[in-house]
Amino acid sequence: MDFIELVKKRYSVRAYKSVPVEKEKLLKVLEAARLAPSASNRQPFQIIVTKTRRKKAKLLSIYPRDWFVQAPLVICICGVKDNAWVRKDNREYLDVDVAIVMDYITLAATDLGLGTCIIAAFDVVNARKILSIPDEVEPILFTPLGYPEDLPGIKKRKKMEELVRYEHW
Ligand SMILES: Cc1cc2nc3c(=O)[nH]c(=O)nc-3n(C[C@H](O)[C@H](O)[C@H](O)COP(=O)(O)O)c2cc1C
Repeated sequence: MDFIELVKKRYSVRAYKSVPVEKEKLLKVLEAARLAPSASNRQPFQIIVTKTRRKKAKLLSIYPRDWFVQAPLVICICGVKDNAWVRKDNREYLDVDVAIVMDYITLAATDLGLGTCIIAAFDVVNARKILSIPDEVEPILFTPLGYPEDLPGIKKRKKMEELVRYEHW
């Protein structure tokens, strides 16, 4: 798919079919994540993939929306602070690295006809408990991974002029 078409096609999917995601497709999505760039190539992330089947109640305590557990898979991207690059003014880039990984996942999934929805508003304590995430690893973003059941809405975005400034052009 043309890249800009892919970008336009991706949307936050908030209803999923219960049909399984093929192993090959999951591996392609994870390979995209593995190949994501990171600051100083530290790759300070871990990816947890979990099946929702038979774990719906537990997973709902992480993010209490029915659609979160409709998809067959849920992915959590964690940051490993001790491995992350920090600029000399102490600016930390862990969140940026994790965001890029998630972005690669969402776009690769879209390319394969799959849906995702990036989730930050989850319960960290429950996520740690249910997914056995140790203290030195920080769960930062979740997404379900499955086939969309809903349709994209209209993309609401700021105008180009509000977002871009050409300086010394
Ligand atoms: C860092 C980040 C955190 C987000 N957290 C949530 C969330 O907790 N719950 C949710 O439903 N959507 C969440 N979203 C999805 C955004 O609401 C969505 O991307 C935005 O409204 C644009 O819509 P679109 O993805 O359909 O283009 C998050 C997106 C990002 C990038």
